[in-house]
Amino acid sequence: MNDPTLFEYTSRQLRNLCAESGFPASDNTPVEMLGELLGEAGKRRLSEGPLWPSDVADDATPVEFSVALDDTGDRAVRVLGEVIAEKPSMVANVAAARRFLNSMSERLGIPTDRFEAVQDVFLPDEPQGKFAFWYSMIFRPNASPKLKVYFNPAARGEDRAAELVAEGFRRLGMEDAYDAATEYSVSRGDLDKFTFFAVDLDDSPLSRVKLYISHFSATAEAPVQASEAVDGIDRDSINEFCDLLGGGTESFDGRPLVSSYSFVESDLKRPGNYSLYLPIRDYVADDVEARARVVSYLESRGGDAAGLDRAIRALTDRPLHEGRGLLAHVSLRLGQFGTGTTIYLSSEAYEVLPTRPGSGTDS
Ligand code: TRP
Repeated sequence: MNDPTLFEYTSRQLRNLCAESGFPASDNTPVEMLGELLGEAGKRRLSEGPLWPSDVADDATPVEFSVALDDTGDRAVRVLGEVIAEKPSMVANVAAARRFLNSMSERLGIPTDRFEAVQDVFLPDEPQGKFAFWYSMIFRPNASPKLKVYFNPAARGEDRAAELVAEGFRRLGMEDAYDAATEYSVSRGDLDKFTFFAVDLDDSPLSRVKLYISHFSATAEAPVQASEAVDGIDRDSINEFCDLLGGGTESFDGRPLVSSYSFVESDLKRPGNYSLYLPIRDYVADDVEARARVVSYLESRGGDAAGLDRAIRALTDRPLHEGRGLLAHVSLRLGQFGTGTTIYLSSEAYEVLPTRPGSGTDS
């Protein structure tokens, strides 16, 4: 493929990633859903450049892949994506993203009640900020796909984010969730910000409502404190995660560490799980360094480091030392509803970020 379309390029990556994760080759659903999500944007040639400056990924590709490795050995392939209208604008993108939801709901029986319950809170007529809402499509071998929606708490301005989050919880019948989620996580004033309010669109008992909080210029202490809202979390595992993947970084002054809380149906008052996201690409010189850190981290947890290399090679054959950001984030999930590690991998459809010579671990 000399100058593939965005859909051709990213669907090949997704197909490879699914094959590598043990999905039956006959399962076309992931690629079909990706095609619908990309819509008109997917039909453009990569040489034409992005239709809209999506913040999903650094190079404006409107999708990002991730591989969730559960400590049980199960894995999921996920695609975070922004729906972009043929003639993009915030308003047009919202309309196109709703059409995608309608179509998925018809086709896969995805329940939209949670979306309906909060949409008028987070989707004003003229949404502000970097995005209105994103989807995550979650695929597991031999299971039906799931959909999750990420809303932007700053859609009515940053100063109203707390109000929107509190109202979002209220609409879902979770009056106590706001206090539980803010007691330990937003003690540093403007340095702790609400980033996403997310709802799983399914009606299984473990379907979740999640709140994400970014900790700007923070040490590992901010996530350690945030994790105290969830019972039984071991602070050492958070310190180790930050230390190993941050390569000894003390203060994370690039892109922020992000905490998230998950609430499930069985306890709407207190979060059952805590996750921490580390934007590793801002703390390495190149992807060789990022991969090495993730490998040692996975090995320290008895995880599958070879699987990481297969996932990388499913996406690209570029030499890892030639860029930075293929490994975008790494996250750690802790709590009674499942523990594990997730690796976020960039498509790099439009661009490979340059390396940063000399910014390695010890320099
Ligand atoms: N690209 C944005 C960022 O890095 C949003 C984003 C994409 C993100 N995937 C993520 C944020 C995973 C946190 C975790 O901030």
